[in-house]
Amino acid sequence: MGTLSCCLLLTLALLIPQESASRKCDLQGLWRNELGSNMTLLALNTAGTFSGSYHTAVTATNKQILVSPLQGAQQHPGAKRHPTFGFTVQWQFSDSTTAFVGQCFVDRHGKETLETMWLLREEVPSHRDTWKATRIGTSIFTRIK
Ligand code: BTN
Repeated sequence: MGTLSCCLLLTLALLIPQESASRKCDLQGLWRNELGSNMTLLALNTAGTFSGSYHTAVTATNKQILVSPLQGAQQHPGAKRHPTFGFTVQWQFSDSTTAFVGQCFVDRHGKETLETMWLLREEVPSHRDTWKATRIGTSIFTRIK
């Protein structure tokens, strides 16, 4: 092997792991979770807030599912490799509200996942029904675009 090829290989070997190790997780894009729900997150503004839309695959209601808007914020926009974030979905077909909190991870192959927890508050007729008004869960989103 010539000196030039050897130097090129060495450079690649040194650069590639650093490239993937320094990759930041990007919230913007199209994501899908384990239920088959899809969401689109639009670009963050300089303050770190973002909007998007959520198409849930499931519902606790007997209503027809509609694509619903979401509003969120990322902590330390631009600075963090694995940033935390939160967003709420304003369902267009239900009286409930869902709030998600999570963290964006990127592995050494550049694969991004959003690891989240959510709370869904259902509208109940009276505070006597509060005990049954909240559902909780976890959800992992993977990028589809
Ligand atoms: C409702 O049924 O009142 C509104 C839709 C709720 C869908 C929930 S939100 C948490 C979980 N993850 C999903 O992708 N969909 C369900």
